Amino acid sequence: MTEPKLRPSDITPEELVQAHKSSRRSFLKSAALTAAGAAGFGGGLITLSTKRGVVRPPDVSTLPALSVTPASSSAAPFAASLAADDELTSVEDITTYNNFSEFGLDKGDPAENAGSLKVRPWSVVVDGEVEAPKTFDIDRLMSSFPLEERVYRMRCVEAWSMVIPWLGLSLGALIRSVNPTSRAKFVQFTTLLDREQMPGQRTGVLDWPYREGLRMDEALHPLSLLAVGLYGRTLPNQNGAPIRLVVPWKYGFKGSKSIVRITLTEKQPPTTWNSAAASEYGFYANVNPSVPHPRWSQASERRIGDLTRRPTLPFNGYAADVAELYAGMDLAKYF
Ligand code: MTE
Repeated sequence: MTEPKLRPSDITPEELVQAHKSSRRSFLKSAALTAAGAAGFGGGLITLSTKRGVVRPPDVSTLPALSVTPASSSAAPFAASLAADDELTSVEDITTYNNFSEFGLDKGDPAENAGSLKVRPWSVVVDGEVEAPKTFDIDRLMSSFPLEERVYRMRCVEAWSMVIPWLGLSLGALIRSVNPTSRAKFVQFTTLLDREQMPGQRTGVLDWPYREGLRMDEALHPLSLLAVGLYGRTLPNQNGAPIRLVVPWKYGFKGSKSIVRITLTEKQPPTTWNSAAASEYGFYANVNPSVPHPRWSQASERRIGDLTRRPTLPFNGYAADVAELYAGMDLAKYF
């Protein structure tokens, strides 16, 4: 695995950099060292401030509306967690402040550049340790499983957060529909690999395609969602159209965007950020205020839209639902 030229910390919002002045010099040095490698991104790497205000928010009202089937929620026992009572983040912020490195490194780049991503036709292969591997056309997938609205907090490893009203289908329901074998212990998510459509993939900042993974019990947990929409409409490209993973108790980088393959495996699969820098980005990536990132604290976060920081909650506030998945594990070791 080659050393990554980019880390999420390299694209950390400026206020975080300011808050960690002691590491700022090395941060800037690292940004400068990697600038050459990022030339294909149009110099986005060392543009530390976001382009919010410059980026024209995409008109999401033109995206097709989606209907939900709330009565069928597979996660009914977790009702309290399905609708975070925090104030929703604005649709403008959700759709113009993004991480999607296939489309650039500045927070505004995905909104500017992802419009060209062709999201139809699109299919998702579900294979590996399953008795009935299947290739789903995205529209069939969306009509075969009930779509539910889930208002979840999203906590990025960079210490900012949002509250997003997703629309999606239960990941567990999809997995169960292909009959996992007894050897299935993990699930790997693979994102589209297409250097023509995704300019970031023409650079070596990450090992493409973007990949993530979960343990089977995490994937089958009722809170795990495959999102196909937000704010009542089809998912905007910059948020991972046509289908992306949402695991609300984990750092946002677990949420692979524009998924084309879901593979059940016997062994823990390699994942993009963990392969890039294992000491900084664990496989588990559970939100944990008491395990700092090697270069900054994870004890607090800035909710996008707020001026002040707030404490970060263990498992992003979903501990009552998911902490038991990790009973007996040393969460500082398996971070
Ligand atoms: N998925 C892909 N394919 N490429 C990425 O660069 N970035 C991750 C995750 N999924 C990323 C990705 C990171 S670091 C975060 S915080 C979330 O997407 C951001 O999701 P959002 O832009 O919809 O808020």
